Amino acid sequence: MTQTPTLEVRNLRTHFFTRAGVVKAVDDVSFTVPRGKVLGLVGESGSGKTVTGFSVMRLVDEPGRIAGGQILFKGQDLAKASDEEMRRLRGNRIAMIFQDPMMTLNPVLRIDTQMIETVQAHAKVSREEARQRARDTLGMVGIPSPDERLMSYPHQFSGGMRQRVAIAIALLHKPDLIVADEPTTALDVTIQGQILAEVQKLAAETGTSLIWITHDLSVVSGLADDIAVMYAGKVVEHGEVGEVLDKPLHPYTHGLIGSVPSRNKRGEPLRQIPGMTPSLFALPPGCAFQARCPRAAEICKQEPPFREWLPGREARCFIPHNVPDAAVKEQVA
Ligand SMILES: Nc1ncnc2c1ncn2[C@@H]1O[C@H](COP(=O)(O)OP(=O)(O)OP(=O)(O)O)[C@@H](O)[C@H]1O
Ligand code: SF4
Ligand SMILES: [Mg+2]
Repeated sequence: MTQTPTLEVRNLRTHFFTRAGVVKAVDDVSFTVPRGKVLGLVGESGSGKTVTGFSVMRLVDEPGRIAGGQILFKGQDLAKASDEEMRRLRGNRIAMIFQDPMMTLNPVLRIDTQMIETVQAHAKVSREEARQRARDTLGMVGIPSPDERLMSYPHQFSGGMRQRVAIAIALLHKPDLIVADEPTTALDVTIQGQILAEVQKLAAETGTSLIWITHDLSVVSGLADDIAVMYAGKVVEHGEVGEVLDKPLHPYTHGLIGSVPSRNKRGEPLRQIPGMTPSLFALPPGCAFQARCPRAAEICKQEPPFREWLPGREARCFIPHNVPDAAVKEQVA
């Protein structure tokens, strides 16, 4: 029997109903995160990564709304959960690490107060035990002299330190799911490596599942099990991370990775590829990538389906790279 995945997002649509029109920020996104696994969510600015993460956490505000699909967290559909139920889950079983740590931290409370309260809100432990857990977790994310640092206020930390505290708070409960939105981008490489190693260890040890949003392919390749590549509100490619980096299917992924030899790919940042992200107000009919795609053909004026081209390897494209010609001919015919 296969285990229910921690998270299964099915055909998610999150749209912003603005005066200028409907922005389909997330439009038919599906992915699965098994227990203890890390999904790397990548894509250029504006592709819908943050809105996807916020949708899972049910933090999308007006004029945005989940317009369709399911967000199955251990089988329970969060798209339909009450606000009360979401508050309970957010403080406990699911956590988010935001790009801006002040989304997590309260500027007027000392770190010990915030962390001890967080622990005690969800576990019946003494203040001293809660303090111990807070101290250990700060140590885990590389904060020196955690005892002293517990007595500080957020403004007494540097930006990088504040982000580490916010990460520690997300780790406090060993939640089932963490959504991390580029949390280490501003940190130096050594600290980033240290945090990624801790997070990976946590995932493996406690079965915590992660969605790690990033622009940085080296982060994804070192940390993630699977990767989902977003473009213009849709997942255009999904698969096991090593396979996707070695043999990308979608021309967009192919462009991101470029033609560097595969042994170097893992240390490379995402490349800029020529052309502009299309406006979500004026998407052309058919494939959203066609204006920038070197392989575009007549058929691309139709909407490409998200299909499995190789075992466990899906892409939303009519003419993908790295698949047998016969399979492409069959699709295009
Ligand atoms: N409140 C809002 N009202 C209207 N449109 C919005 C709103 N919030 C986000 N969007 C739109 O949703 C789309 C996806 O944005 P999102 O922030 O998810 O991108 P992203 O992939 O996280 O980009 P980045 O890498 O820059 O963080 C963008 O086109 C953005 O303009
Ligand atoms: S469907 Fe066509 S335009 Fe779109 S990515 Fe594939 S080949 Fe390029
Ligand atoms: Mg973002």
